[in-house]
Parts: sequence; structure tokens; C-alpha cells
Amino acid sequence: MCGIVAYIGEREAYPIIIKGLKRLEYRGYDSAGVALLNNGALNLYKKQGKVANLEAFTEDKDRGGSAGIGHTRWATHGEPNDINSHPHASSDGEIAMIHNGIIENYDSLKRELQRKGYSFKSETDTEVLTILVEDIYKNSDISLAEALRLALQQVVGAYAIVLISRKNPRQLIAARKSSPLVVGIGKDNDFFCASDATPIVEYTKKVVYMEDEEIAVLDLDKGLKLYSIDDVAKTPYIQELELHLEALEKEGYDHFMLKEIHEQPRSITDCFRGRLNADEAWVKLGGIKDYEEKIANANRIIMIACGTSWHACLVGEYLFEDLARINVEVEYASEFRYRNPIINEDDIVIAISQSGETADTLAALELAKSKGATILGICNVVGSSISRITDAGSYTHAGPEIGVASTKAFTAQVTVLTLMALSLAKRKGTISDSTFRTLLSELEAIPSKVQEILDTNDKIKFISEQYQHASNALYLGRGSSFPVALEGALKLKEISYIHAEGYPAAEMKHGPIALIDEEMPVFVIATQGTSYEKVVSNIQEVKARKGKIIAVVTEGDETVKGIADHVIEIPETDEQLVPLLSTIPFQLLSYHIAVMRGCNVDQPRNLAKSVTVE
Ligand code: F6R
Repeated sequence: MCGIVAYIGEREAYPIIIKGLKRLEYRGYDSAGVALLNNGALNLYKKQGKVANLEAFTEDKDRGGSAGIGHTRWATHGEPNDINSHPHASSDGEIAMIHNGIIENYDSLKRELQRKGYSFKSETDTEVLTILVEDIYKNSDISLAEALRLALQQVVGAYAIVLISRKNPRQLIAARKSSPLVVGIGKDNDFFCASDATPIVEYTKKVVYMEDEEIAVLDLDKGLKLYSIDDVAKTPYIQELELHLEALEKEGYDHFMLKEIHEQPRSITDCFRGRLNADEAWVKLGGIKDYEEKIANANRIIMIACGTSWHACLVGEYLFEDLARINVEVEYASEFRYRNPIINEDDIVIAISQSGETADTLAALELAKSKGATILGICNVVGSSISRITDAGSYTHAGPEIGVASTKAFTAQVTVLTLMALSLAKRKGTISDSTFRTLLSELEAIPSKVQEILDTNDKIKFISEQYQHASNALYLGRGSSFPVALEGALKLKEISYIHAEGYPAAEMKHGPIALIDEEMPVFVIATQGTSYEKVVSNIQEVKARKGKIIAVVTEGDETVKGIADHVIEIPETDEQLVPLLSTIPFQLLSYHIAVMRGCNVDQPRNLAKSVTVE
């Protein structure tokens, strides 16, 4: 949540910062702002709304200067208006700060500063921190970096910060704790700084991912200096970025979400490439190989995540229990961390997160680690916080996911979980050789089957037209199709603002059935498998109450076709792998309905992609 970008060097800072902010808009789009140093002036511009508003606002202003900071906001403290937007300036106008995170003790700090005579323009925690730095800086004979360090020692909370000041025009100062921050080392002795690497990649591939409680001074004369908050000098660990610029463009699609839905044949292939071979009957996940024995012998695995990633965990639960016969508990990270959970050293805790930065998931992992559990991660973003604090893990290799609604990350997460479950099953001997081989070849065939579903887009769009005006929707599924129902409902509600709920199909008669009338679309996963007949009965129950049925069925199904209002056929596959296919029509349905309703598909209201606050 909130995106920050900064630049210092010889180039014009403004265009670099604006372009970077647009790349980071997925992290929040309540307001945007910049502070630029030009000829001794610190020019600060900020505007409610998207980066485009800021651009229009600054058109006739001085946008010159080769040092600057920029911010795109997801509001926490204070409503999203111009004043609460970042950057925030010190009371003397000498310093400006951008911040991603929350200063939890801002109120007591603010009262103390008010007692000293300071007044505040905004309602934000960030302005409090800026003025705290100012107060320390101007009342002592220390550097600004030192003043920031001392200020941060008083702070409780999370932060990724960049400071710019009039008195130190050849320097930016950055700090992080719990919110991500990457420093880019440019080719021309210049520096970049951002919440993730996307604003940096087109200028340099050399980056340093800052660690918690580190302060970085980006100095045009002295280079990059890194310190801990306890004032211990550190050596920057410079890494080479693997990100490619094309992955950050829409490439002809109207929205990132549509592009990402269509990328799934490729992203699923990338996810299992080099990790399975059906002909030779092996599967391997290099990242966790040293822990496989321990996982295989674990009494239980706890999977933790939020949102869509939590749905992937639920699919994982079915896969691990069914194939590898390992007990799995799935937990919302936000609940787990505050529940005094029973965790011991034999436990394996697997966190799933696209961004690898979700605050609750990170905190839940830290809790598990502190109790001695082995902690593993399944993340998409390389170098993210979760991937760095875990003992081991597997990347999903889905490529950057920019649309706020998660699509290709979900199928990649489920693919990794399938590989893990198969690998563990093989090791434990809980799967026959023939089933193992069949599942591997079925998994290899999934990308082309996903493509077949994507090719039915016109039909799915036609169905979407029929339900674009719905006010409510129900999603039903059984077994591992239940999490797909939850995911379908989440996709619809988050981008089209239609109220939707997912249920295990059989639970419908314990309450939700009361909602069904001729206005209610009910999306059902009724593919061939163990519960097929039961789901058909559930469909009959809905039809008997005049509900509209949109069923996802296995190709060639005639029974459901005879009852449902619409069917979407998906290719046949092994029952274990159906979630990888059945989720695709729901993604497309939500996408089309949201577009037809005029919603902002890539940046739905009130949401942000990387939820770095609890
Ligand atoms: C929904 C969605 C969110 C995320 C959730 C967790 O489409 O994207 O529900 O799944 O915020 O995010 P990550 O996976 O980054 O931890």
C-alpha cells in the first residue's frame, strides 16, 4: 500500500518519478505528489486522485530539478484529500518526506511536538514523523541521516521512507521497516529508490533490497552508504534484477487484468518448467529440497495467507491431504497472528503471497518462526520480504501481476502446491506410480487446456452480458471446487462491486437458499468427479426456486446442459487439477461484467495490491 519513488543524479527527476508512480499505482491511487529540488527551491506538488491528476496540476509549474521524491497513496490516516497527500514538508519547508506504512504511536509523538510549539497541516502520521526529524535536526549539530535515525528510534510501526532536503541537495535518505524499499544503483553515478523494482528496471538492473531497520544514504559524492538503526555500518548486497520491461506493459490488452488472464498458459508453464518431467516421472522443487524430508514427516502443515492466496491454500489443503496424506490447516494470516496459536518446532508453516509483502502474512510467519516452526514461502515477487525471511520456498514465476485482482498468481500458486503435493506423495509412497505419471502428464497439458477455455471468451462475454445488472450472486462448488467458488465470488465483488458469496454447494440449504429467486445468478462448478451427482442435485434445488444457473461443466456434459440456463464447458482433466481450469471462466466473467458496468478493472475502488498495513 502506497508507492514511493525517488531519484537523484544528473537527469530530470520529474519524468522518472511520474513514470515510476504510474507503475506503482497498483499500490494505491487515492492521491499522488512529488517534491523536487531545483535551484535551491524545494517544490512540492500534490493532488487527490490518480497520478494523471497530479500531472495535469503540475503542467504550468516548475518541474525541473535532478533530485526528487514521489508518492502514490492508499489512505490510512486522514481522508484522501490534497493536504493529506504526500510528500509532507517540515514546518520550515526545508525537508520533505514520503512514507509507506503506519506510525502507530504518531498521536503521542504529535502531542509532544505540539507542546514544543509545532502545528500540523494534515491529519497524517507522516507529517508527524517529518516534523520529529526536523525538531531533532535543527536542535543539534548532527547530519540529517543521523536525525532520521534518532527519530526512527522513537517510532513504533512500519515504514519505507525517503527524505529530501534543501540543505543536502546531493543526497537522499531512505529507511525501511516492514514496508518494502529497493535502491537502484544507476550507470551514471545516480540513484533510484522505490517500493518495488518496476520503476527502476528500465534504468538499471543493479539493486539493493533494503532490510528491516536499515537507513540508506544515497549521496552523489560519497556513493551509497547503509547503516542499521543502531548505527552499525553495513555493506550493501547488490543484486541483478531479472525483471523485463515488457512484462510491465499492457501489450495491446485493454487492461492488465485481461492481459494477465490471457498470460496463464505461459505463466503456468513457466511455473512448472524444469520442475517436472512426465516422461521420466519426476517432480522436483529445488527451493525446498532440503526440507522435503521434514515436510513429508510433519504431523501437520499450517498454510497461511490472505484473500486470493488464502483460496489457493484451501486448494492446497485438498491436494496435500488427498495425495500426500498430510494433515493441513489453513489459516487467515490476520486471525492466526492474534490468536495465540499452538505452534511447535515440528510444525511446517507455509505462507502464500503474490506480493510477498502482505503485512499480516509476514507477521504471522514471524510469529511461527519465533515459536520454532519451519517457515516456507510461496511467493511471486522475487526478493520480497516473505521470500527473504523464510527458511526456504518456491517462487511461482508468474511474472509481474499489476491488475489489483489476482488471476495468474492464483493459478501459479495452485500449480506450485500441486507440484509440492506430488513430490511429497511420491516420497511418502502415498501415490501409485500410474497415478503419479497420469497427474504429471495431465499437469503438463493444463496450459493448452487453459488456452482452450480462453478461446471461448466470446461465449463467456455473452453470458456476462445477461448478468451485468445483477445485485447479488452465489458461487457454489464442492471439494476443491469450493475454494474456486470462493475465488469466483471474490473476483466478482472486488472488481464489479456486485455482492457475491461462495459456498460449499451442500451448505446452500443451511441458509443461503433463502436468497434464491429469479433475480439471483448462481454460478456452479459441476465438473465430472466424485461429487458430480450431488452437485447436480444442488442445481436442481436452485432451479426449483427459479434461480439462474450458470454452470462450469466438463466438455460433453449433457445432464447439466439440460437444466442450467448457461453452461461453460472446460476440457476434461484429473479431478485434482480441475481448479486450475474451472477458475478461468470465473475470471473472465468477472472481468467482462466489471467492464460492462464501467468499473475500473485494474484499480478497483478502495483496494490496493500490496497490503502492507494490517
Ligand atoms: C484479490 C487479491 C487479494 C490478495 C491478498 C493477498 O484478487 O488480490 O485478495 O490475494 O491481498 O495478497 P498477497 O498474495 O500479495 O499476499
